Amino acid sequence: MLKVSLLSRKGFHGIYRGQDSTTGLQAVIAVHSLALGPSLGGIRMFPYTSVAAMTQDATRLAQAMSYKAAISALQLGGGKACILGNPAKEKTRDLFLSLGEFIETLGGNYIGAEDSGINPNDLDIVSEVTSHVTGSRRLPGGSGDPSPATAKGILLGIKTALQFSGNASLVQKRIIIQGMGAVGSNLARLLLNEGATVYAGDIDASRRKKAEDLGCQVVPLARLLRLQADVFAPCAMGAVLTRDVLTHLRCPIIAGGANNQFEDSSTGPKMAQALGILHAPDFVINAGGLIQLYVREILKKRNVATYLKPIKTTLKTIFEESRKTGEPPLTIAICMAQDRIRSAEQ
Ligand code: NAI
Repeated sequence: MLKVSLLSRKGFHGIYRGQDSTTGLQAVIAVHSLALGPSLGGIRMFPYTSVAAMTQDATRLAQAMSYKAAISALQLGGGKACILGNPAKEKTRDLFLSLGEFIETLGGNYIGAEDSGINPNDLDIVSEVTSHVTGSRRLPGGSGDPSPATAKGILLGIKTALQFSGNASLVQKRIIIQGMGAVGSNLARLLLNEGATVYAGDIDASRRKKAEDLGCQVVPLARLLRLQADVFAPCAMGAVLTRDVLTHLRCPIIAGGANNQFEDSSTGPKMAQALGILHAPDFVINAGGLIQLYVREILKKRNVATYLKPIKTTLKTIFEESRKTGEPPLTIAICMAQDRIRSAEQ
């Protein structure tokens, strides 16, 4: 039988633990804030080493989703569901039915979506028990692959950063993309279409081949981040902006899709600024996938592009505020998101 307990409310609407000894479910759902709307966020399955590690991941990710929704002016809060288990070995139908039951107990305060370790088959099972889930093929709507919309938002971010630095045209601009997966390859296609030269790198040989086929210049990873270019677009994993990378980077702009790009978020943004690098905060320009999901599944509309456009004005405001106050763009973006959430709470 499912047992749900409240772990904490500190800084959150609620952090809940769900356990079912019959199905083996061990999960945490973090609901960051409901001030702007129901909390939406992915369901992740991962072999966490402990419930504490799972709780920490869920809370960190739920807060980040809140900021992303708030800065994108979506009527949503941020949430995250994490399941303890190995997605390659421990998935069962009963596990996802009890996760659905867990989500249902929150009465719509949390809406689930796909995240790492989870696929549409799993969401189909969850949707047998709760309607508070997106990405299931059983329910009407279906927002589709988020990465093309994410890439379009990043393109807007790159253009805004270039414009802020003097010239928005992409013709003959040199762009480095690290990570040629779903987001990186879509972004490369868009940049190449606008006349840019794209230097690409990936740890995966098949992705490097795909990059070459698209028309990118594939560069060994050891050299990629030492190239002179106009923009560096990190589209692989987080924490890529280490002290070493920032020191050797020969690009005046960083604008990419990877989440949490600074290895040290307390010193990294200031260091980038001191080096004269303009950094476009990731959660501002990589919100396209979330925006698509919101437009298609919550608003039940199709015109995603209209809802992507504000990324430009938001980013420009952040850059201007950064110039005025001397604070790094990431700090400004977090403050703006927190202000929006706080004023909705009043
Ligand atoms: P993906 O898994 O399709 O692609 C990631 C690529 O990075 C893979 O090709 C992988 O081989 C490569 N990679 C991993 N480590 C690398 C390294 N050290 N150096 C070079 N390449 C490396 O993932 P996806 O969906 O393209 O996402 C990319 C990033 O954007 C992730 O950080 C993700 O969290 C973030 N993001 C993705 C969104 C989406 O719509 N897919 C939305 C918002 C953020």
